[in-house]
Amino acid sequence: MNNIAPIGIFDSGVGGLSVLHQIRRQLPAENLIFLADQAHVPYGPRPLEQVRQFSEEISRSLISQGAKLIVVACNTASAAALHHLRATFPDTPFVGMEPAVKPAAERTLSGVVGVLATPATFQGKLYASVIERFARDVTVLQATCPGLVSQIENGELDSDATRAILENALHPMIARGIDRVVMGCTHYPFVIPLIKEISGPEVEVIDPAPAVARQVGSVLLARGLASTESALGAVQYLTTGNPHKLSSLLPLLLGESGQVQHIQLDT
Ligand code: DGL
Repeated sequence: MNNIAPIGIFDSGVGGLSVLHQIRRQLPAENLIFLADQAHVPYGPRPLEQVRQFSEEISRSLISQGAKLIVVACNTASAAALHHLRATFPDTPFVGMEPAVKPAAERTLSGVVGVLATPATFQGKLYASVIERFARDVTVLQATCPGLVSQIENGELDSDATRAILENALHPMIARGIDRVVMGCTHYPFVIPLIKEISGPEVEVIDPAPAVARQVGSVLLARGLASTESALGAVQYLTTGNPHKLSSLLPLLLGESGQVQHIQLDT
């Protein structure tokens, strides 16, 4: 494996772009392949076994395209498949998402924190283990935000419908005194401005993407795989869905445009 090989990043859809954005900021010389499985978005309401199969197929494709490391930029896929992917592809390092309950539990003053994530993420063993390890002494409130992923996939970052979904999730949490809210789904950072408007300045929003990007940098260094180039890396965007739809959203979500190609997987 050589240092200029790309990092593969995948999600069910555009959520992984919130992680890609942080990786670009912290590791600008890396070449990236971003794969959005938009033929199957949303993953959240699906059985974990099915999400595991999608994740395996996507990882196989990214490895065949030369990925030196894979970022599972999706909490749902991490919950469903991270252990399985590491066991199935032992030669490839994987970095996944874990709901950032630890920093929320460490920093809360009220002793009550909120987590926004998909139903599948809450069902997974990973979430149970995070709660068990880090949140014994705090109250953790959960909300699944039905429909929010689809709103974000449609670029509706501040519509009335998006606001209504977030108010439904956040108002009961605010009433019970949360002072930290964790983004447990990579789509949700795109509505942080709206979340802040609803929650007010007393509630800190915690997005794990910067920490995940730091972890990617450390793993690459530890394995001698970090890019040694000085030029900005290239980004290739792939989707199993409609490439035009994804490319039309890139300026809104990333502040830059990009070419998107369609990819067919065996799932
Ligand atoms: N962005 C994903 C996550 O972090 C998946 C959302 C979905 O497809 O339901 O959970």
